[in-house]
Amino acid sequence: MADSGAPTLAAFAAALPPEEARPGLGRPGARPVEDADNAALAATPPLLKVEALNQYYGGSHILRNVALEAACGEVTVILGRNGVGKTTLLKSLMGVVPVRSGTVRFGGADITNDTPYQRVRRGIGYVPQGREIFSRLTVQENLQMGLAYKRGGTALPKELFELFPVLRQMLHRRGGDLSGGQQQQLAIARALAAGPSLLVLDEPTEGIQPSIIKDIGRVIRMLADTGLPIDGKPQRMAIVLVEQYYDFAAELADRYLVMERGEVVQRGRGADMEREGVRARMSI
Ligand SMILES: Nc1ncnc2c1ncn2[C@@H]1O[C@H](COP(=O)(O)OP(=O)(O)O)[C@@H](O)[C@H]1O
Ligand SMILES: [Mg+2]
Repeated sequence: MADSGAPTLAAFAAALPPEEARPGLGRPGARPVEDADNAALAATPPLLKVEALNQYYGGSHILRNVALEAACGEVTVILGRNGVGKTTLLKSLMGVVPVRSGTVRFGGADITNDTPYQRVRRGIGYVPQGREIFSRLTVQENLQMGLAYKRGGTALPKELFELFPVLRQMLHRRGGDLSGGQQQQLAIARALAAGPSLLVLDEPTEGIQPSIIKDIGRVIRMLADTGLPIDGKPQRMAIVLVEQYYDFAAELADRYLVMERGEVVQRGRGADMEREGVRARMSI
């Protein structure tokens, strides 16, 4: 594993340009999208591809022909006000609710009918809205839950603690005793424990103090840019991020989608969000 001479996360973090050299983390100035990049992206099939997804709760039509793609190395942000179907979309991606029609493909395979644990095993990590920490289990036990569906080793990757040092200090505390921000970090670390190639996050900034929001933003950018060296060589991850906090979303987005009443009504490049009036759509 990581002890086979693979560089540690700390080494990767050290190799990253300092934050002041990467203005706005995900902003275009930090990572210009060149034509060559675009050509390369077009040539690489997206890791995740959702097509014509429809979802109902009883008789209510909740998702309407939703299409979504996510590629490695990119943060794809889904924006939309309360109740438009963002969480339902992520639950459908994870198989937490069955899909009525449409397809979900991951790494080229049709996973539309996979169970949630099969999806985790294929390499999808999920950080649910509200975090869903096991409050009576310790931090360590919560992290071990993240390994439950993994084949092979059950040791917690040490990279998780390099990413979120506070979790090492809190290892034997109960999840329920952590602050909201610490619980969010725990939920992300739990999802990363199995070494996913796609990380899906549902409103990770909800109810969290600004300093931790910044830390979480930095981690998300880094996961997309360099990945985590869990189980060998780090690979750039695909990130799907649901957000209502516009500034955080705009800072991280390589691609964006806006949802209204179960439909994707706008999509584009993160660099164009401001110009394309996404902020106004969120605040109406
Ligand atoms: N379990 C459920 N049963 C019935 N309706 C639901 C359920 N969960 C969500 N809804 C409804 O589905 C719509 C979309 O909800 P949700 O996906 O949670 O939106 P968002 O995450 O964008 O706030 C809302 O109208 C909500 O009231
Ligand atoms: Mg939601």
